Amino acid sequence: MVSAMKRGKLITLEGGEGSGKSTQVVHLANHLRKQGIEAVCTREPGGVPFSERLRDLVLGHPPASPKTEFLMFAAARSEHIALLIEPVLSRGQWVLCDRYIDSTRVYQGALGGIDPGLIAAIETYTVKPFLPELTFILDVNPRIGLERARARGELSRYDAAAEEDHETVRKGFLDIAAKEPGRCVVIDGHEGELEIAAQVAQIVDRRFLLPG
Ligand code: TYD
Repeated sequence: MVSAMKRGKLITLEGGEGSGKSTQVVHLANHLRKQGIEAVCTREPGGVPFSERLRDLVLGHPPASPKTEFLMFAAARSEHIALLIEPVLSRGQWVLCDRYIDSTRVYQGALGGIDPGLIAAIETYTVKPFLPELTFILDVNPRIGLERARARGELSRYDAAAEEDHETVRKGFLDIAAKEPGRCVVIDGHEGELEIAAQVAQIVDRRFLLPG
C-alpha cells in the first residue's frame, strides 16, 4: 500500500515596507535545507506566471479602484495556490511565502476600507484549506522601514503614502497577531538580519522539527 505523503508546511512572512521579509524567507529556506527539508520560496502577489502578470497590473500605474485591486489580489492568490502552493505542499515540500492573506487583510482591509466580512468570505473561498501553519510578522517602525526600502531602491507605491497610513499597516499586522497568537509570531524587525534569522529558525525548529 502506498502511504499518503505528509503534507508540507506553509509559512508566511508579513510586515510593512522594508521589514526584511524577503531576506528572511531565503535564510529560513537555507536553514530548512540543512535539515533535509526542501522549501520553495515564493511571494505575493505573484509566484506563478499568471499571478506575476496580475502583480504587474495591480502594482503598476495608475492604480485600479480599491474593489478591483482587492479582487485582483484575491485572483492572483487563487492561481498561486492552484499552481504552486497546493502541488508543492502535496508532494511534502514546504512553502515559504513573502506576504499572503494578512497583507490583504491589512492593506485592502484596515487601510483600504474593504469590509472585513467580505475579505473573510473571499479568503474562505479562495484560500481554505491552505491557511498558513505559521506566520512571522516582522515589526518595524515605518520610518526605519521606509529608509531601508529607499536605500535599496525598492520603493513601492505605498512609500509615498502618508505616515499615518504606514502606522495603520503596522497596527493592522499587530492586531492580527494579537487575535491569532497560535499562528502568528511577532519578531522585532529592528534586530540585525542574522539575529532575526536565528530567532525565526529556532521558532520553526521548536514548533515543527524538535521532538516533544
Ligand atoms: P512589494 O514590492 O513586494 O513590497 P514589499 O517588498 O514591501 O513586500 O509590493 C507588494 C505590495 O503589495 C506591498 O506594498 C503590499 C501590497 N499588497 C497588498 O496590498 N495586498 C496583498 O494582498 C498583497 C499580497 C500585497
